[in-house]
Amino acid sequence: MSTHPQVDIPVLLEISRGGGIKGRSRRYEKFLGDMEGVYRDDEAWRAAVAERGADELVYWVDDQRYHEGPGALIVGTSTVLPGTMGDEFAVTRGHIHAVSDRAEFYYCMSGRGVMQMETLDGQVSAIELTPGRAVNVPGHWIHRSVNVGDEPFVTLFCYAADAGQDYGVIADAGGMKQIIVVDGDGWAAVPNPDHRGYREYVAN
Ligand SMILES: [Fe+2]
Repeated sequence: MSTHPQVDIPVLLEISRGGGIKGRSRRYEKFLGDMEGVYRDDEAWRAAVAERGADELVYWVDDQRYHEGPGALIVGTSTVLPGTMGDEFAVTRGHIHAVSDRAEFYYCMSGRGVMQMETLDGQVSAIELTPGRAVNVPGHWIHRSVNVGDEPFVTLFCYAADAGQDYGVIADAGGMKQIIVVDGDGWAAVPNPDHRGYREYVAN
């Protein structure tokens, strides 16, 4: 009897600078109507939905995974379209990994954005990404992509397949501790007055 493990068969991925992945196994899309409560300026969000429609695509994720067991990787691209809501730049919903010690690597392929990161005990970090710049997001950090440019912000990411995502952590806290807003020709991370602090850390 063989003692070799069952193995996955390697697949070729062709990843374009614009974020397309030939060979992907999944695409996840978010529409304007899905973004309720994500931005501080609810009125601006409602006006945008009324004007542009709830079914306008705002960001998407393509990825490839063999399975979701420990040891496997999920690799993919995230594409966030440009724009503002009130004075906030376009964001992804953001999450902490359900297995919270799992790290994630992000490499900017095109556009200009910010990787916004916060810990449950209140540390904050916002790193600007342009093509060729990357961030290795450590475990235990809530993270979100922000498009601060005027073209799609595309990152290549890679993380442990068993990480999972907890999206409620930000909504439960009234939003992230900081928000990324328009500041002249650039951006600034400023305190979010609606933030109530993150919930107690639950080890898993
Ligand atoms: Fe993540």
